[in-house]
Amino acid sequence: MTIIVETPRLILRRLEERDAAFVLTLVNDADWLKFIGDKGVRTLDDARAYLRNGPIAMYARHGHGLYCVDSKAGGEAIGMCGLIKRDTLADIDLGFAFLPQARGGGYAYEAASATMTYARETLDLRRVVAIVSPGNARSIGLLEKLGFRFEKSLRLPPKEDLETLLYAAGD
Ligand SMILES: CC(C)(COP(=O)(O)OP(=O)(O)OC[C@H]1O[C@@H](n2cnc3c(N)ncnc32)[C@H](O)[C@@H]1OP(=O)(O)O)[C@@H](O)C(=O)NCCC(=O)NCCS
Repeated sequence: MTIIVETPRLILRRLEERDAAFVLTLVNDADWLKFIGDKGVRTLDDARAYLRNGPIAMYARHGHGLYCVDSKAGGEAIGMCGLIKRDTLADIDLGFAFLPQARGGGYAYEAASATMTYARETLDLRRVVAIVSPGNARSIGLLEKLGFRFEKSLRLPPKEDLETLLYAAGD
């Protein structure tokens, strides 16, 4: 297990193929589908392939990526949070998503603040961005609580028909 950061209630660690069942649930959650999009992950095999080609490949290529957030109290995975490098954006972006039962308890804020400290202090990133759908009020609220500011509206490939908001923290 590769631990990235620990907070009072959470452990952020690298995702592994053994997290497939958790990932299958999270990426098919209604809010994930609405606000992040359909990854086409329908089976455990699809989830393992998503993990291999997504987060695990990103750790190898960039040294960071989306991490698994485990609850210390329950010992189980409750969300994902981390730092993503996309071909479509110049900067590294913060991403997060939690299971519905793990929302409303400040876990996303706790994980995302620790990730931002890691980005600044360990990865030496002066600027981190975040992309969010205009209707995703909870996510926008969280970004603002973390000190992100709205910068501009974008249309990112391959979904040029959809408006995306770019938020940024740092200079
Ligand atoms: C976006 C998302 C991660 C936000 O999760 P969240 O749990 O609402 O966010 P926070 O961690 O900031 O929690 C805030 C709530 O917990 C409450 N809370 C309870 N205990 C708390 C504590 N110890 N510390 C901080 N907040 C606490 C806060 O009061 C707040 O509730 P309120 O907004 O009703 O006042 C979540 O909605 C999600 O997973 N959405 C689907 C995926 C998604 O859209 N991802 C983002 C794509 S850009």
